[in-house]
Amino acid sequence: MTERSKVLQDFLDSVHDVLKSAKAGPEAGKCIARVFDALERPSSPGRNQPTRLPACTHLPVALETARSGGPSLARIATSFAALEPQLTWTRRPKVDGSQSDNFADGHANAMIIGPNGLEPREDVWVGVSLLAPHVRYPDHDHSPEEVYLVLSKGRFQHGDSEWFEPGIGGSFYNTPNIKHAMASGDEPLFAIWCLAS
Ligand SMILES: [Fe+2]
Repeated sequence: MTERSKVLQDFLDSVHDVLKSAKAGPEAGKCIARVFDALERPSSPGRNQPTRLPACTHLPVALETARSGGPSLARIATSFAALEPQLTWTRRPKVDGSQSDNFADGHANAMIIGPNGLEPREDVWVGVSLLAPHVRYPDHDHSPEEVYLVLSKGRFQHGDSEWFEPGIGGSFYNTPNIKHAMASGDEPLFAIWCLAS
């Protein structure tokens, strides 16, 4: 049977622990259950090449902010810091003009579970986005439903909603194919996303 590394399992457990008591509505609850039920069966590790990007210099500040959100979020910050040297940080390949001019070097994404991630698979994706201060991520959409866990300050928008601030430790649900975006203010934005196809 395929085994998952302890450092990856610790990170997933820390995220699950927070999300299972998240108050993001019944659809989010079902999505979270779907993601973490599937993750009980590990897939084989991938062969990703660890890489950092310029925006990664904001990670220590972002993790410090997460730690300020209480012991459960501090556990995520610590387990993520342990996992991070294995990650391939990437730029979003597609933009549509809604992004800020500083977007290219002002953001970094990392797929942890999912295509090209540490554990490549199609059924579940878990990853992170990091934005430098004053960056607007472009509008985007995808068919899998999604739950965000936000570990910093920062604004989000989905569908026709106004921009809203979930706050440190806040979470919310994106229905399949809904258009969504995020933007940082004076501080870096750091969020974890979980998608179930
Ligand atoms: Fe998304």
